[in-house]
Amino acid sequence: MKPKVLVTREVFDEVLAYLQEALEVESNQDDLALSSEELRRRLSDKDGVMCALTDRIDAGLVAACPRLKAVCNIAVGYNNIDVAACSARDIVVTNTPGVLDETTADLVWALMLATARRLTEAEAYLRNGQWTGWYLKQILGTDVHHATLGIVGMGRIGQMIARRALGFEMEVIYHNRSPLGPAIEAPLKARYVGMDELLARADFVVLQVPYSSATRHLIGAAELARMKSSAILINAARGGVVDDAALIDALGRGVIRAAGLDVFENEPKLDPGFLALKNVVLAPHIGSSTRVTRLAMAMTAARNLVAAMTGEIPPNRVNPK
Ligand code: DGY
Repeated sequence: MKPKVLVTREVFDEVLAYLQEALEVESNQDDLALSSEELRRRLSDKDGVMCALTDRIDAGLVAACPRLKAVCNIAVGYNNIDVAACSARDIVVTNTPGVLDETTADLVWALMLATARRLTEAEAYLRNGQWTGWYLKQILGTDVHHATLGIVGMGRIGQMIARRALGFEMEVIYHNRSPLGPAIEAPLKARYVGMDELLARADFVVLQVPYSSATRHLIGAAELARMKSSAILINAARGGVVDDAALIDALGRGVIRAAGLDVFENEPKLDPGFLALKNVVLAPHIGSSTRVTRLAMAMTAARNLVAAMTGEIPPNRVNPK
């Protein structure tokens, strides 16, 4: 008998075919969002699950699924999973590190450029038929080249964002739990600074930290007030790292110049305050969303699940025994 697994969201056909070779798969190819009750019902007789950040795998769900042995997230972040509750039951938890780093760094750069050069605002102006001709002070933006980039969280993605900044001849400063050392810093021309210095000096503050109780509201009213009034905040990491209400207030009052956001505190619900602002570029959590990368993420999660279900050690276990 093959182990029984649930795939909670639509995945690419090749991923499904790979899973079906080794496992009995119930999949949600219609991609209808599963309520927590539905998730609990469907998972109650399963040995494993391939899930996404839209699924809350909490202690209550774990308790209701006595056969569950593996939770394989299609994401590098796994703040949707109660890892402690899983570990207590010796349930394997895996993520998808590595495969989405370059793609996410690209999106961060897309947000930086679009926000600095007011691209979405400019496009709306055209689409609304407001353009009557060239003039000198038209939609004045902010230069990205030679500006100071401040990266908060200098893991793999942070380092890739910094590498792209070399071409723009930016000054790169970063803050991290600890300095990375010259072997990593020198080729990136990046310098470790304290959080206060980063907030005070950076023209672009880019957040690249995972969400946890320690990083919740890392950027709130006080931190926004420490930034330059010309500065731009970019968050493609996790909603909740920024206090959205404080950011909306700061953007409205010109405390900072603008923000580029791919993630939100209560996503998919968007604080309507954002929609009323011109100085924010908004994206619906698409940081890793290219076909190649989303396929690689799903395949990585699938390999983790098959390994866990067939007695192998999954390559990307986040809660080692
Ligand atoms: C991740 O991998 O954590 C991303 O946010 C998913 O797109």
